[in-house]
Amino acid sequence: MSEKTLAIIKPDAVKKRVIGRIIQRIEDEGFNILGLKMVQLSLEEAKTFYAVHKDKPFYDSLTEFMSSGPIVVLLLEGEEAIKHWREVMGATNPAEARPGTLRREFGFSLERNAVHGSDSPQTAEVEIKFFFN
Ligand code: CMP
Repeated sequence: MSEKTLAIIKPDAVKKRVIGRIIQRIEDEGFNILGLKMVQLSLEEAKTFYAVHKDKPFYDSLTEFMSSGPIVVLLLEGEEAIKHWREVMGATNPAEARPGTLRREFGFSLERNAVHGSDSPQTAEVEIKFFFN
């Protein structure tokens, strides 16, 4: 079933100058890119985006990091796009991500893990609306 998901190239990957390599991988994987833009979130916007994590100990650090520099957001479409994109990203912790995944290749730490992806159809809908209305 074709579905949509939201992908983010995080500030660490933008600073590392690997936007191009990540987008190349997205295209090579067969996703259709329906939307793409570079934005910088305010701290408030990052807090809203990650509101589901507001009670987690890493919330302040994560939202400061996500608003620390430009990010690239992409609206992706494809067969089982949510699962497919999560497979391409790899495990949240780059140290645990399998070789060949984006987080293994470009991530630095649990927080600075290069890319984000929606984790369910419900969050995909909310996250897509957040960036593409
Ligand atoms: P992401 O897919 O963007 O969704 C939430 C983010 O929180 C996650 O990637 C990680 O970057 C970050 N995160 C998850 N767990 C931790 C943790 N234990 N410490 C710091 N950051 C975390």
